[in-house]
Amino acid sequence: MQDIYILGSGAMGCLWASYCPPEQSVHFIQRAPKEATFSFQVLPYATKHVTTCHAANELIHPIERLIVATKAYDALAAMQSVAHLLTDATQVVLLQNGLGSQQAITDAFPHVAIFACSSTEGAYKQDSNTLVHAGKGQNLIGAMNHHAKKEALADWLPDHQYQWQDQIEVTLWRKFMINCAINPLTVLYQCQNGKLIEEPKYLSHMQQICEEIDLLSQAQTLNVDSAFVVARQVCQLTAQNFSSMLQDHRAQNPTEIDFMTGYLLKLATRYKIPCPKNAEVYESILNLG
Ligand code: PAF
Repeated sequence: MQDIYILGSGAMGCLWASYCPPEQSVHFIQRAPKEATFSFQVLPYATKHVTTCHAANELIHPIERLIVATKAYDALAAMQSVAHLLTDATQVVLLQNGLGSQQAITDAFPHVAIFACSSTEGAYKQDSNTLVHAGKGQNLIGAMNHHAKKEALADWLPDHQYQWQDQIEVTLWRKFMINCAINPLTVLYQCQNGKLIEEPKYLSHMQQICEEIDLLSQAQTLNVDSAFVVARQVCQLTAQNFSSMLQDHRAQNPTEIDFMTGYLLKLATRYKIPCPKNAEVYESILNLG
């Protein structure tokens, strides 16, 4: 059984470590490991997991199985930190939100098999050694390049943990539309997702943003539902949630705006489609600091 390496030991990194069977060796790669091992428990199951921790420059053996569980803005640099360990036999699963980081990594590592995952799993760290698996979601995974083969992934990722997607770009776009429609507005209005559909002013703002998103879906000939219809449904289903961007903002961490609205504006330039409402939202989020 090949060892599994994980870049990023936040909630998503720990959740994916917890998917592995107990006999599987799991290693976290960290910028500055404090300890040689890291143990955590997962609630509500009360399962215990023990992993080892390494700095990238300490590792010398090639990595065959790698999961990248960092924030989108750290993902490319994290991959570059282990570039010397990646070979033609390496398979990488990317877990980042938004769009842009997956494409940048696929371009930077053309010899490596790259898979991307769009996840609706809900998990957070209650403290540094306790992960709460708050909402069982889905992991939708597909190939970002021709090296990435469904059968190869099935050799190491338990099949009940994910569903294969033949067109991962469309799957990623669906989640991206939702993130662009909801996340920045929850920061601007400092509210839970549900408030965006309760307040007429917020709802109309979301509709304007979504009309521009739809123009970009059409320009790329992506067969997806209207962003406003989907975003409203998600706000209803996740009414009590504080979006990931609002959580980042409140914790004074960088937000993933460049991989959501920022990436949307890059596409808008590429397809020559004016998106003034999204540009305004992007500027407002940047100005919040
Ligand atoms: O980023 C998030 O918070 C989530 O993807 C979503 C769907 C907006 C729900 O909070």
